[in-house]
Amino acid sequence: MTAPLTILEVKGLTKSYGAVRAVDSVDLHIDRGEILGLIGPNGSGKSTFFDCTTGLAEPDTGKVLLEGTEITNWPLNRIAREGRMLRSFQKTVVFKQLDVEENLVIAGQMFAFPSVASTFSFGRAARDRVAGLRRHARELIELTGLGHVAHMPAGNLSGGQQKLIQFASMLMPDPRLIMLDEPMAGINPKLIERVVDTIQYANREMGVSFLVIEHNIDVVTNLCSRAIVLDQGRKLCEGTPAEVIANKDVREAYLGG
Ligand SMILES: Nc1ncnc2c1ncn2[C@@H]1O[C@H](COP(=O)(O)OP(=O)(O)OP(=O)(O)O)[C@@H](O)[C@H]1O
Ligand SMILES: [Mg+2]
Repeated sequence: MTAPLTILEVKGLTKSYGAVRAVDSVDLHIDRGEILGLIGPNGSGKSTFFDCTTGLAEPDTGKVLLEGTEITNWPLNRIAREGRMLRSFQKTVVFKQLDVEENLVIAGQMFAFPSVASTFSFGRAARDRVAGLRRHARELIELTGLGHVAHMPAGNLSGGQQKLIQFASMLMPDPRLIMLDEPMAGINPKLIERVVDTIQYANREMGVSFLVIEHNIDVVTNLCSRAIVLDQGRKLCEGTPAEVIANKDVREAYLGG
């Protein structure tokens, strides 16, 4: 059987917090191999959309399908494990005491071999497994340009470098879809280039599809084949980055006229 062409399909997603309609009847699909941008003003519902599709929050109404399987209201860890759909948060999270390589090995270990027994088991099979993860970790460390700090504690590195660790950790389990919440926020132009290159590499060479929340419109233009604009929880516009930028409503609501 061939894999479905649509990797993620969201239909009529709505989520309110009290009187605020954070996400309002949003439809969205991501094709296999696509890098889709999700943009819009502060408070327009982008992160809430992520929360409701990845099991962190329950949508009021709507459906979420991952490769044709309905996953609406599945808990976060089940989606990550069985669905191989991973997300980042606006706040970066790494294991600060562990070095960069250990951060990646642990990430691979948690997803590929989730039982406690397998994590702490000894013997040949366990050693081979960890050796395989370590090889994969070293490749990703080179790819993200972290080779020179591979054995430093993650907590001693800069915010931008920690973002790269988090991103490389997400690639460890070979996910099918990664959702990134403002991956470029607060990092310098050189590291932005590195993150863009890494996303493109993962997309091209590893076949990972992406949904990326991003305020930097140049990055969206560079990275995404298509973008969706949210405003006050609703989908305002959808198209190529060039079409979206040229749209009058988008200019008024988001890009400043
Ligand atoms: N857990 C929550 N409890 C109450 N209100 C919330 C919660 N999460 C989000 N909201 C509200 O929902 C709306 C959408 O917020 P959301 O964080 O999704 O926006 P965003 O597009 O990600 O914004 P930003 O670009 O600033 O990150 C806002 O009005 C916000 O205050
Ligand atoms: Mg947000």
